[in-house]
Amino acid sequence: MEMINININGKVFSVDAESTILEAATANGIHIPTLCTIKGIDSRASCRICVVEVKGERVFQPACATKVRKGMEVDTDTLAIRKSRKTTLELLLSRHAVDCHHCLRIGNSRCDDLDPAFCEMCFFCECVKDGCCELQALAREYKVDVLPYPHENIDQKVDKSTGSIIRNSNKCVKCRRCVDVCNDIQTVHNLSIINRGSNTKIVPEMDKNMKDSPCVQCGRCVDVCPTGALFVEEHTDEVLFYTHNYGIETAALVSSNTLKKLAELFRMETPVMEAELVVAGLRKIGVDYVYTDEVVNQLSAKDGEKALLKALETEKETVIITDSYAAEKFVKQNFAKLAPKLVTYDSPQRIFSKYMKQNFAGDQNHNTSDFRLIAVTEGGENAADAYENKSVDFVIPARELYSIFIRTGVNPKKRQPLKPDSIVVSPKELPATVFFAPVEWSMEKDIKQTEFVLSGNRIKAAIATNLGQVGVLLEEVQNGNSPYRVIRINA
Ligand code: SF4
Ligand code: SF4
Ligand code: FES
Repeated sequence: MEMINININGKVFSVDAESTILEAATANGIHIPTLCTIKGIDSRASCRICVVEVKGERVFQPACATKVRKGMEVDTDTLAIRKSRKTTLELLLSRHAVDCHHCLRIGNSRCDDLDPAFCEMCFFCECVKDGCCELQALAREYKVDVLPYPHENIDQKVDKSTGSIIRNSNKCVKCRRCVDVCNDIQTVHNLSIINRGSNTKIVPEMDKNMKDSPCVQCGRCVDVCPTGALFVEEHTDEVLFYTHNYGIETAALVSSNTLKKLAELFRMETPVMEAELVVAGLRKIGVDYVYTDEVVNQLSAKDGEKALLKALETEKETVIITDSYAAEKFVKQNFAKLAPKLVTYDSPQRIFSKYMKQNFAGDQNHNTSDFRLIAVTEGGENAADAYENKSVDFVIPARELYSIFIRTGVNPKKRQPLKPDSIVVSPKELPATVFFAPVEWSMEKDIKQTEFVLSGNRIKAAIATNLGQVGVLLEEVQNGNSPYRVIRINA
């Protein structure tokens, strides 16, 4: 890697010659605020929040899209820059339904009050992202305590057509993150940007609602949206109703994929929240049985293993296997000829649902045959699966669980850790091959290749960690030149 010297805020740093100003500053501990850019995708510099002064340039430059040059002199935090960022934020907020900052809207408070600790006591903010919204955090950082411009374009209909992934265009800041993820990473090409100026809109294909569009409900656009414009439908009221209802029992599955986000939201110093603290918090709000996901992950892997062994007996070509709701939809939509060959097995959420339905309702130890299942998990596809296939009654992402805890005054950080309930299975069921272990979604183009042994046979395989990778692997299968015996696909 070639290194060059540049000057940032009066100090010389040696930086990667290929980096942007943003990357160079971040690598050296200098904060530059951003909104539209996300790591892993080339920035389109659409928000102008990250502007900096570069000596010799007439206008401010976007740090996320400007490459460093030898000897470059950059200022990241002058008064003029702060003023420019603040004006940009005020303009963005003029086209944003400000359902948070209730204390600002009634005009009797200042942005200082929007310390997270203050927000935790306030029940008036209506936005699902309140407390974890990047726009709100920037408004706080730049002290946007009045909204000087008239509000425009905040009366668009909220798209709730899928019942799980909700699109509220009134909160969209047109950062394009969702468009880039849907097009460049997931290759679904559902979202695009239309019109210009203040009429600019992000829309699903042909401006349809999400349900009628080619959306496969992977939920990745939700994961990258910085505001409350895209989110997973909330179930706080129902969850609290059932947890407080003595005639109905509730059981929750806590997925380990939520623990990092919970630690972040509760501003913990550890990288993840201990699962036992989440168990304690859920019990406190009235959930009767709380499970963690180690055993259901293993049971799901075992189900995958059995399905694969069966498929290998008859399928002479590449076996395509998945437990992903969205990946299955993607194959049906884009590779119709391969769809009949697709082998599916139960995801951890579905395994949990089956286990509870078989072992819970008829069990004498339980007071009732009526129960509700809650999955605490990230991933819009789990919410879509719950809505479409009723695998569980409610899917609660970490963000919503945080808000439930805040609203009920339960702070899991301050509770005594509690052991989760046990899912009892025969030792014969476990363990399963690591090939079916949970995988994290990634923005990578490189596909993970692997080899594993199943029933004495060594198998050459690939694991796709996003839908773009799925597309590449299935093209090869379709063209008859796949080098793999097995492909596991994820969305
Ligand atoms: S859920 Fe997935 S497919 Fe649907 S719009 Fe978002 S990124 Fe695209
Ligand atoms: S919906 Fe969210 S991610 Fe997409 S452009 Fe709007 S604010 Fe950005
Ligand atoms: S973060 Fe650089 S222009 Fe948006």
